[in-house]
Parts: sequence; C-alpha cells; structure tokens
Amino acid sequence: MGVPQLNAIPTNHQQLIKWIGDWAALLKPEGIYWCDGSKEEYDRLTRELIDTGLATELNKEKRPDSVLFRSDPSDVARVENNTYIASPTQEQAGPTNNWIDPTELKQTMRALYDGAMAGRTMYVIPFSMGPVGSPIAKIGVEITDSAYVVINMHIMTRVGTAVLDALGANGVYIPTVHSVGSPLAAGQADNGKWPCAPLDKKYISHFPETREIWSYGSGYGGNALLGKKCLALRIASVLARDEGWLAEHMLILKITSPEGQVRYIAGAFPSACGKTNLAMLIPTVPGWKVETVGDDIAWMKFGPDGRLYAINPEAGFFGVAPGTSEASNPSAMRSVARDTIFTNVALTEDGDIWWEGIGYDPPGPLTDWHGSPWTADNDDKPAAHPNSRFTARAGNCPVIADEWEDPEGVPISAFLFGGRRPSTVPLVHQAFDWNHGVFLGSIVGSEVTAAALDLKAGTVRRDPFAMLPFCGYHMGDYFKHWVEIGAEGEADKMPKIFYVNWFRKSADGEWLWPGYGENSRVLKWVFERCEGHGKAEETAIGYMPPVEAIDRRGIEKSVSEQVMAELLSVDRDGWLGEVELIKEHFAKFGDRLPEVLREQLLALEKRLKES
Ligand code: GTP
Ligand code: SPV
Ligand code: MN
Repeated sequence: MGVPQLNAIPTNHQQLIKWIGDWAALLKPEGIYWCDGSKEEYDRLTRELIDTGLATELNKEKRPDSVLFRSDPSDVARVENNTYIASPTQEQAGPTNNWIDPTELKQTMRALYDGAMAGRTMYVIPFSMGPVGSPIAKIGVEITDSAYVVINMHIMTRVGTAVLDALGANGVYIPTVHSVGSPLAAGQADNGKWPCAPLDKKYISHFPETREIWSYGSGYGGNALLGKKCLALRIASVLARDEGWLAEHMLILKITSPEGQVRYIAGAFPSACGKTNLAMLIPTVPGWKVETVGDDIAWMKFGPDGRLYAINPEAGFFGVAPGTSEASNPSAMRSVARDTIFTNVALTEDGDIWWEGIGYDPPGPLTDWHGSPWTADNDDKPAAHPNSRFTARAGNCPVIADEWEDPEGVPISAFLFGGRRPSTVPLVHQAFDWNHGVFLGSIVGSEVTAAALDLKAGTVRRDPFAMLPFCGYHMGDYFKHWVEIGAEGEADKMPKIFYVNWFRKSADGEWLWPGYGENSRVLKWVFERCEGHGKAEETAIGYMPPVEAIDRRGIEKSVSEQVMAELLSVDRDGWLGEVELIKEHFAKFGDRLPEVLREQLLALEKRLKES
C-alpha cells in the first residue's frame, strides 16, 4: 500500500514524483506533505512545534513571532567525523575528507533509512539556492521528517511553488534526503524531546559523482539544512570545479567611501571566525558605509566584462549567538528582533532570550540550553551553548544591500582570508599577485571554535580557504582550480587578495585589536589598495601598510602606536616556524599540490631568510 499524500502534488515533474515515491516506500512515513513556502505554512508548522513542546514561544512584546528550540547534547553543531565525501575512489575525496565507498555507504544508510520516518510526516521541500531563475542559482529538493528543518529552510532558502514552476516538467534539481533517525512506534510521540540518533549513527553523506546528499541522525544546522553546507558548498564546489566557477565559504559586503565610490569585498574565515560580524559591520571611520550581501556563502562566476560576480545563495542568516550584542553587531541584534528561530540559547523568566556576550547581565534566573535552571553563579557552565544560533531573514537586516538579490550578482574587488591567530599573522597583509593570494588562502589556519562538535576548541588547525570541512573533492585539486581561475581572468580585473587577522593577543592573553566596527579601518585600506592609492611597503610576506596608512582617528589611545607597530610587523622567527608547519601541511597533498604553491612556499622562505 502506498503512503498517503497529505496534500495535492503541486508538480507534473514525473521523475521528481517517482523519486519521492521511491523514498517514501523506504522511509515509511505516515504521509507525504509538499511544502509551498507560504507564511501560512510557516505559522502552522511553528504552532504545531509549540503545541507539541518542541519549541518555546517567546514573549510576544519582546520578541514577536519568535521561538526557541533546545536540541540534544549530541546534536549541537556540525559533526565533521561523521561527514563523508563518498566519491567513487578515496583519492578523489582526498586526504582531508572522510571517505567510504559509495556502494557500501548507501547500503549502510538504506538499512538506517528503512522505516526511519515511521510515525512522522515526510515533508518535501523544493528550494532554490540563489534568487529563483538567476543564472547562478541552483534548485534542490529536500525530503525531511523534521518540521524544524522546514521552518528553518523557509528562512534560509527560497522555498515553494515558484521553485517548482522554475523546475517545470523536466528541470534539473539536486536531490537531498534527511531524516532525524528517530522513528516513532504506534502511539509514541517526541513529548517535547529533540529527536535525533546517537552520535555513532549520524551520517552526513555526499555523493559528488551523482550529486546526491543523504543525511541521517542529526536535526541541527548544517547537518540538516541541506541547502547550506551540503549543497551550496560540498556539492557546489564539485559543480564549480567542473563548470569553471567558485563556490566559497565567504561573506559578501558592499563598502561605500565618503566620496560615494562602491566596492564589493568577499571574505573567507573559518566557522565562528567573524564572517557575519564583518558582513554587518558599522564602520567607526566617519563617512564610510558597509552593507550586507551575504554572511556565509558566495557563488561566483565571470561576468561578460571579465570580472568575478558573486551571489549569496542563501536567504537568511544562521548566525552564532554568543558574542552578538548592541556593541559588537547592532545590525544582527535588529535582525533577530522578531521573526527569528533561536536554537540552544538561554531563556529568561519573562520569555526573552539571553546568551553570553549579549552585552548585559542576565535579568534574573535563566533556563539554560539544556532546559535546566541557571543562575549567574553557574558561570563555569554557559547558559547558552557556545554554538547556539539564530535563524533570521536577510530581509530583516537593517543594513542589507539593495542589490543583495540581484540575479546577476555583484562584482568582487577583493578577497579577504583570515582566521583566529593569536600570534605571528599580522593585522593585514596583501598578496603580491593572484598565485601568491592562492598561497595565502591555502595556508589559512585558525584556532578551532565550537562550530564543530568533535574538535578540540583552542588548538590551531589549517583550514585552507576556510573550506576544510566543506570541500567536496581533493583539496589539492581545489587549489589547482583557484590557480586556473586566476589564469583564466585578466590580472587587472581579478580581485586583489588580502590576509587579515583580528585575533592577535598580547602576552597576557588580551586582544591587541578591538575588532568588530573597528575592522572598517582595515577595510578602508583594502578599499584604497583596490583604488590604487593606498600606501604599502613590500615585506617578506607581502605588501603591508605602514602604521600611518591605517586610519586610527578616534582610537589613538586604546590602540597605541606601539601596539599598531606590533600588529603590523613581520614576526620573522614566527613566520620561519610557520614555514615548517606549512611544509607538513602541504606534504599531505602529495603530487596533487600545484607546483606554483610549492614555489610560493620556497620563495617565502627565501625572502624571510634574506630579510
Ligand atoms: P559561521 O556562521 O560559523 O560560518 O561563523 P562566522 O564566520 O559568521 O562567525 P561570526 O561572525 O558569527 O563570529 C563568531 C564569533 O567571533 C562571535 O562570538 C563573535 O563575537 C566573534 N568575533 C567576530 N568578529 C570579531 C572581531 O573582529 N574580533 C573579535 N575579537 N571577535 C570577533
Ligand atoms: C559553520 O559551521 O560554518 C556554519 C554553521 O555556518 S552550520 O550551518 O551549522 O554549518
Ligand atoms: Mn559557515
């Protein structure tokens, strides 16, 4: 007997209908529901989630139309050890990805999927990454048994009927399957408990050859909202390689000078290293303006004029909550003022949210992210999980750029790379040329953050291009792709490449640079370099601004000339140590490391030794 349809099938795409039917036969849900992406649907599902105790409705006056979810402690972040790139051979996945033979992995997962949706609804979510109909956009369809996933996808992507219309009867889509892996026996319910499978049963699997995504056992973030990291980065990176474009873990911002000149900058920083904050920054340098195009992912293609144009494939922000405050990111605070899904933050007695670093003390006793009572003397245990997040509509951001949904994208003038480096790496330096810039991207390192569950926070790891957890193929080939994109473009039309570091610390562990809005001072120099008039000195590691080239008006006291000199010096011994670490890092890629990167490393070592 077939699985009942809970509403009318809104498409005549026969292959899609058959695909849904085949999966329903294996997953055995109670019924199939096709999502239309409407507000009515969002409100209805949210109400059901509140009524069944999975979501807490927040105070209507303080936080209108907003809800709080608490997940399971095994399900609070991406799980890199359970994330697979199942290409036909291990060599294709490369040394930085987990690999399982695709036939074997599908067999294992089919057994898990068998009956996995028992007692649940199977939702079908047609979604577009990028404005519907944009030449850069891609369509996906996600099957899921999580209403939490549906409402998050409503915010993070473009969902619904318009997507099916664009798909027509024969259009191409990327098929993605998700189950929380927690079937219900007859009469059983979640009773307000976040459904998921134990850690050893979670699988976040990608089949690059057939462009499929199969996710099982997790309901959280990038593990479950399959348009985001799985499609827009891991699968898209493979498409981009094959089709000659770029799919990157990058923010996109628009910067306007006091003279009204506009430039667009894209930046790759590892997870929880400041993309959202930089994308929404309020400049402290008078007369400058920054607006947001995207905060996490950029897809870029050459335009007819030979420049690289970027779109933000997402429609919302899945942003890190802790540390977000009126002082650090007022635009994010405005974005989450209403209409927001919060996950794993703390709850106040009057039904509002709270997290560490929100900028004020807890207004009283809290309920922590476990659902337990929490008072300020518990502060060895955070009230909000360090990777707690908000899901907010991009359209609610007060500094969203008018052109953020332009289907043609915006032309990029500069790429920034960066990470959390307490020492060695200066505040900013600029690559000599494209290939040197690719080298800088390839050596990005960062202190590990809470954005992945299974890593030890605090240790520095290499995260090339901030893509280590997100590249769907051999990272050596990914470097080669970047070199080739540079060779294809005309040098003067390609973005200039910079390496920034907001995270230098003093000997006693204090931040040397104030960060956040003050990062506009560095953006100003980057802008001036793109215009061709920013002052720079040639050093062993790249072009660097002399101290006076960074506008310090207003912070002369808090960031002294001496601190500035430290932030902008070349730590020769530190970099020589770094060279040895980069050699180890590069060795992993064997003969798939592009020769130009090997040459860049040798040239850096030579310049340092001669300096
Ligand atoms: P993902 O969404 O995980 O990809 O992260 P992201 O790169 O968008 O990181 P986000 O901007 O959310 O920042 C994460 C953390 O870094 C927050 O706790 C911020 O407060 C902190 N942070 C961001 N910018 C700065 C900065 O300039 N200086 C310092 N010291 N901290 C910062
Ligand atoms: C990241 O970890 O880089 C994120 C959050 O942006 S998640 O979508 O969960 O991957
Ligand atoms: Mn991210």
